[in-house]
Amino acid sequence: MPAGQLLYEGKAKQIYETENEKELLMKYKDDATAFDGQKKGVIQDKGIVNNRVTNLLFRLLEIEGIETHLIKQIDDRNSLVKNLQIIPVEVVTRNVVAGSLAQRIGKEEGFPLPTPIIELYYKNDDLHDPMINEYHARAMGWATDEQLKAIQGQALKINKVLQKLFDSINIILVDFKLEFGIYEGRVILADEISPDTCRLWDRDSFEKLDKDRFRRNLGQEAEAYQEVAKRIETALSK
Ligand code: TMP
Repeated sequence: MPAGQLLYEGKAKQIYETENEKELLMKYKDDATAFDGQKKGVIQDKGIVNNRVTNLLFRLLEIEGIETHLIKQIDDRNSLVKNLQIIPVEVVTRNVVAGSLAQRIGKEEGFPLPTPIIELYYKNDDLHDPMINEYHARAMGWATDEQLKAIQGQALKINKVLQKLFDSINIILVDFKLEFGIYEGRVILADEISPDTCRLWDRDSFEKLDKDRFRRNLGQEAEAYQEVAKRIETALSK
């Protein structure tokens, strides 16, 4: 693995074709970027951890009734996924003020939100993924009203499932980013859920266990990623 032709290379993953046009191979890399690729680095074994974590979380979500693109994990860095038509709208769900929200509204990081906030961003690197709302997505034809409803409904349901899991392993799920795609007319969860795409804080120490360690030069990124994987594995093996 991988055997087919490289179709797409992103910052953290490569996508290969397979013999079946309805399936793709997703290969997770150790490369890390931040601030639209301005900061570049490598987090040792990140690809292995993110593949493992995404697979564990996606399997849990499937059990909870959320359809995902995951078909199966092939090996430590590769997973077989459904070939979706990706909706170019990134969905961020927030439970605690942090990151760009803290900056935008001038509130300190760590303020717990009484209800979750959902934000939409147009997935476009050249434009630095600008924030949009439902009106932009509908008017530009990026998603229909029905699809937007499905996306946001699923994001809130995923938030509940993940909050329950992370709560049980002493981690605060601060925020996370999701991507969705269309498969046989249905809106289903795509991409990954990992320490690259979530903010995860230890509930006792408030230590950051996610990509903010890399973004903010805090060091020990690999250890933090491994810690998250270990706690999730322990919780799900019970
Ligand atoms: P933000 O506070 O920087 O807007 O990030 C919100 C969440 O989205 C956070 O959990 C990190 C995640 N995220 C990505 O997965 N990819 C990105 O390119 C960015 C900017 C954020």
